[in-house]
Amino acid sequence: MARILQLTLNGRARRDAIPDNLLLLDYLRETVGLTGTKTGCDGGECGACTVLIDDQPRFSCLTLAAVVDGLKVDTIESLASEGRLSAVQRGFHEKLGAQCGYCTPGFIMASAGLLRRNKHPTEDEIREALGSNICRCTGYVKIIEAVQHAAALCDTGASP
Ligand code: FES
Ligand code: FES
Repeated sequence: MARILQLTLNGRARRDAIPDNLLLLDYLRETVGLTGTKTGCDGGECGACTVLIDDQPRFSCLTLAAVVDGLKVDTIESLASEGRLSAVQRGFHEKLGAQCGYCTPGFIMASAGLLRRNKHPTEDEIREALGSNICRCTGYVKIIEAVQHAAALCDTGASP
């Protein structure tokens, strides 16, 4: 069965015919062509596919595209504005929060979701918010520092 999916994707209204069983991850990468969202484990274990649905981090590999009908979805491509990195992107860049970078879009979206609902997270709150994301390279210390730096940037008016 097919259906018409209507959503607000990265701030713009979209309408696409999709099969009922299409995963949000595949919709984003293959139907829309937004390849910033990564496929990792493809089974809800790694967080590489994290996007924001109505500002809440969700695994797009476990979400049917049909579920986001009428909702707002933000991917990593939504964060930079007019050529400027968002606070979280700057945090990861300036604090060396990425090495190979494969996990980074998922960490950045989970972090952006955290800072949208909690402008001043403690280290424990950051660790909890990123607890479903796996990085094989960094050892996580730099990632925590990146989010703390992003929170400080938000205090100066940057958007997460
Ligand atoms: S690809 Fe979705 S959780 Fe790993
Ligand atoms: S930076 Fe390589 S997996 Fe995280």
